Amino acid sequence: MNFTINVWRQSGPEAKGRIETYPVSGISDHMSFLEMIDVLNEQLINQDIEPVVFDHDCREGICGSCSMFINGEAHGPGRSITTCQLHMREFKDGETITIEPFRAKAFPIIKDLMVDRSSLDRIIQSGGFVSVNTAGKQPDANAIPIEKADADAAFDAATCIGCGACVATCKNASAMLFVGAKVSQFALLPQGKIEAEDRVLNMVNQMDLEGFGNCTNTGACEVECPKGISLETIARMNREFLSASLSSK
Ligand code: SF4
Ligand code: FES
Repeated sequence: MNFTINVWRQSGPEAKGRIETYPVSGISDHMSFLEMIDVLNEQLINQDIEPVVFDHDCREGICGSCSMFINGEAHGPGRSITTCQLHMREFKDGETITIEPFRAKAFPIIKDLMVDRSSLDRIIQSGGFVSVNTAGKQPDANAIPIEKADADAAFDAATCIGCGACVATCKNASAMLFVGAKVSQFALLPQGKIEAEDRVLNMVNQMDLEGFGNCTNTGACEVECPKGISLETIARMNREFLSASLSSK
């Protein structure tokens, strides 16, 4: 397969970016989208052109690194997959494909397709954990009975990989699906109750400090989320936040 690739090139955070167009050839329909970029980069290196910088790590849908906009969609066409799980057979031979970085005020561009998503890490640092005293004899982790429905819902929320597609897709660049997922995974479990009030207040406060926008119930985040995180997590976070705000007064 052969493609024409329009890709965002930007040499650094302060540099002016632009779309550059490159042909890429010899692509197998079994290749992943990232493997196609690998081939493109080899072809660029052979022409003494700097390769396209992009983020990737696990290449199996776990790490959330491979964040990019493909033909105007976060992680490209197809639902519930990351860019590394997207295959070239989803495109037509000869097609022109446009690749851009995730765009949001809280995700400054580092270079080309790579953006700085450490704002999400700082939200986690502000409350996305449970404190456990590990000194002395500890009870078995499975000793606390948890209803299956709660365990399943907590697990579903915990599958968020922090890719930022929800932010990049949202017209307000809101991170509420991400924060909702991270609050929910603890709010549904007894282990998360102890620090619940501080957690939701601190995480929402950090989300605002990082410059993310507010949720206006568009729902685009849920559609583009590769892990199917539900808008219900945002509703749960709002309930937790309201209750914590009232009791902390
Ligand atoms: S909620 Fe979904 S889209 Fe947002 S960071 Fe988590 S996995 Fe990515
Ligand atoms: S490279 Fe890890 S999710 Fe795509």
